[in-house]
Amino acid sequence: MSEPRKILVTSALPYANGSIHLGHMLEYIQTDMWVRFQKHRGNQCIYVCADDAHGSAIMLRAEKEGISPEQLIANVQAEHSGDFADFLVNFDNFHSTHSEENRELSSLIYTRLRDAGHIATRSVTQYFDPEKKMFLADRFIKGTCPKCGTEDQYGDNCEKCGATYAPTDLKDPKSAISGATPVLKDSKHFFFDLPAFDAMLKSWTRSGTLQDAVANKLSEWLDSGLQQWDISRDAPYFGFEIPGEPGKYFYVWLDAPIGYMASFKNLCDRTPGLEFEAFWNKDSTAELYHFIGKDIVNFHALFWPAMLEGSGFRKPSGINVHGYLTVNGQKMSKSRGTFIKARTYLEHLSPEYLRYYYAAKLGRGVDDLDLNLEDFVQKVNSDLIGKVVNIASRCAGFIHKGNAGVLIAGNAAPELTEAFLAAAPSIAEAYEARDFARAMREIMALADRANAWIADKAPWSLAKQEGKQDEVQAICALGINLFRQLVIFLKPVLPNLAADAEQFLNVAPLTWDDHLTLLGNHQLNPFQALMTRIDPAKVEAMTNASKEDLAASATDTGAAQGNGELINDPLSPEIDFDAFAAIDLRVALIEKAEHVEGADKLLRLTLDIGDEKRNVFSGIKSAYPNPAELEGRLTMMIANLKPRKMRFGISEGMVMAAGPGGEEIYLLSPDSGAKPGQRIK
Ligand code: MSP
Ligand code: ZN
Repeated sequence: MSEPRKILVTSALPYANGSIHLGHMLEYIQTDMWVRFQKHRGNQCIYVCADDAHGSAIMLRAEKEGISPEQLIANVQAEHSGDFADFLVNFDNFHSTHSEENRELSSLIYTRLRDAGHIATRSVTQYFDPEKKMFLADRFIKGTCPKCGTEDQYGDNCEKCGATYAPTDLKDPKSAISGATPVLKDSKHFFFDLPAFDAMLKSWTRSGTLQDAVANKLSEWLDSGLQQWDISRDAPYFGFEIPGEPGKYFYVWLDAPIGYMASFKNLCDRTPGLEFEAFWNKDSTAELYHFIGKDIVNFHALFWPAMLEGSGFRKPSGINVHGYLTVNGQKMSKSRGTFIKARTYLEHLSPEYLRYYYAAKLGRGVDDLDLNLEDFVQKVNSDLIGKVVNIASRCAGFIHKGNAGVLIAGNAAPELTEAFLAAAPSIAEAYEARDFARAMREIMALADRANAWIADKAPWSLAKQEGKQDEVQAICALGINLFRQLVIFLKPVLPNLAADAEQFLNVAPLTWDDHLTLLGNHQLNPFQALMTRIDPAKVEAMTNASKEDLAASATDTGAAQGNGELINDPLSPEIDFDAFAAIDLRVALIEKAEHVEGADKLLRLTLDIGDEKRNVFSGIKSAYPNPAELEGRLTMMIANLKPRKMRFGISEGMVMAAGPGGEEIYLLSPDSGAKPGQRIK
């Protein structure tokens, strides 16, 4: 056996000014699965995280809530910790960047950088709010776009025309905090000399520490030349004062990654035998991985390694970057109910459903990942309940009834157990490479084989025949053993299922190497349902509750749009005549109506609206199980709805229907005489 590896792993530190949502969870769940895999394999793997508690956004939010920043971050930390624990994200430590450890380490790193000549100072001119007496970051300045004249645009770009500019280019600038007209003011700023690390970064980013796509992106930045990085902010600011520079604070992104070290230091200080230096000194042989989203690559793959190098610490072994979460093919949206908070999800569904779905879809690339809610229900039910749990529930009863729960020794299908053994290294390799999707595919392929074998042997028929008891016991004993193997392979993803299975199997916590053996002559505990199917109504309740979150906070600006389901809102808000007139309602001829492969609820409609054809997906399949009957009918459609990318293609509008849903949906039709393409007034 090789020596266990020593590995330190982090996820990005969530901001302490908001709730955790399912987008964040994509990161924490994948990191947790990788860490659990390493522990399962017998490696020493330590997973630390913390809240990112500094910055002006947190200061301002605390002010608004009438509490101190310390109180705000304590409240949020309690909320975040609860969310993570309930999603089975098992940090070894969850700390805060507003901690003594972080203050000391930030100060140490800064002074080392300064003493090595890597810190420069110069004067910077910036907008200043004369009422709030504070400098304004770009996002706290609003004004009129210098290019197109749209009012109420942020200080660095126009949402209307997309122009980017300096805040000083805005016409009629106003402080978004107080409404006062800002004035220009000079102040001394501190800069980290990033260009000094150019050569190191060029080689480090190409040394196998990054995914290719990320390394390529960084090459573009590196080739266009690095600039010094502004690491200071003026008071008032919630953060750490720069040593020896009263009134000057570290910019939040300076001390945030140091928060990784600080959280680990905090853990070391209360864990005998765990040494900070062994993981962070320049000559450390431990591995260090940061899991992050694609939006914060520059901080982790440029600034951070340069800071570490410049202050005499080791650099990361790898930065593992993932893409963004979309829901039903689109950016999460509060009005669609797809901006789902971690807590809202947990109030309706079990965490393991989402853990499995993320695993099944996560490759090692930086592509975005889509949580398609229909597919989510289908995939989880078919794989976890239909394939994995099914094996145990099919076999357990016969062992309890026919042999008092004692699983007999033997191997009824050596070719099958051989196949499971042979697959293990490849599954482990996929986990190691963070190709969770491949690991899940290979595990489910094994589950399919096990199910096919059991179905072929049909112990339920044999049980009715005389003299076949031994055969039934042999088949079911192997079935339970194959189930046990699957649980071993899935344990990093489904820790609760594994714990319940261990209880049923009456075994000690399973480790990866347990897949090398089979159980025999072994007493099982009574079987209890290990996992239940996802009820689609729960998913709907979750998205409805997410819309209610919105009603409570009333911060959304997006317009409601169809998601293949009927919008069923008894209390639609009033719209004015202009909004009504903007809806392009047309008579449409249904030329073709077809089933969509893989979709439970959708039909694909080809609509003729006179001068053009439209492809529309509509959630009316339960009402029209025989879609051909719709062909040739006239209906009404909204023709100027923004096209929407769905898993099955682009939907170019929406047809109109009434009814509560399910089988009771009635497609609306115009009176006879209407022609395709005519506008409805
Ligand atoms: N505080 C910084 C990180 C500092 S690390 C030293 C931050 N916080 S965050 O709360 O905005 O994001 C935390 C992590 O969640 C980031 O890695 C970010 O990329 C990830 N995600 C936030 N929204 C996400 C999605 N919608 N989808 C996937 N990941 C997302 O950035
Ligand atoms: Zn503009």
